[in-house]
Amino acid sequence: MVLENQKVLVWDPFVRVFHWSLVLFYLVAWVSAEEWASLHERAGYFILVLLGLRIVWGVIGTQHARFRDFVYGGTVTVGYLRSLRAGTPRHYLGHNPAGGWMVIALLLSLAVAGVSGILIGDAEHGVWKEIHEGSANMTLLLVVVHVSGVVLASLIHGENLVRAMLTGHKMRRSEDV
Ligand code: HEM
Repeated sequence: MVLENQKVLVWDPFVRVFHWSLVLFYLVAWVSAEEWASLHERAGYFILVLLGLRIVWGVIGTQHARFRDFVYGGTVTVGYLRSLRAGTPRHYLGHNPAGGWMVIALLLSLAVAGVSGILIGDAEHGVWKEIHEGSANMTLLLVVVHVSGVVLASLIHGENLVRAMLTGHKMRRSEDV
């Protein structure tokens, strides 16, 4: 039996620590990019370690941390985006289909930025530097869309998703997916 308005732990401690560490090291990487190479490189390596752990956790982790919980097919995702445009999106306990693809895009973009950063080596110019800067800018764009999506979804559903990523808890609703 599914109880309405029941408080449930959606984001386990690993997901929460992963998220806020990622935010911190992403910020450090941006701020140090131009003038503090050693800190920038350390932040980049740390982000890659976080990504590696998150990928493993996406396979063996708790229910809503798993990729199979939030990576939806094209039909469901397009249907969700249409319902969002109509102002009637369904409420998901974990990531919604659009949010799920945003998670994948963020992880990929960060991975490309991290790996290409390592491959630059001592070169001043070159293809890896181009890829590194391109993916870093792409990640920034994704982050802006990500945070806007979080604010929009919080407003539409009348829930505080940022607090949920801090405490791990959300309220289950009877219509939840
Ligand atoms: C202060 C800015 C940020 C806020 C308020 C924020 C908030 C959130 C929230 C509320 C979620 C859960 C979304 C949901 O309920 O479905 C989330 C997930 C996520 N965010 Fe952010 N975020 C921020 C910045 C970032 C940045 C800078 C990155 C990456 C560089 C990022 C990457 C992610 C990822 C990868 C997830 C998925 C978490 C997981 O399942 O492991 N976020 N964020």
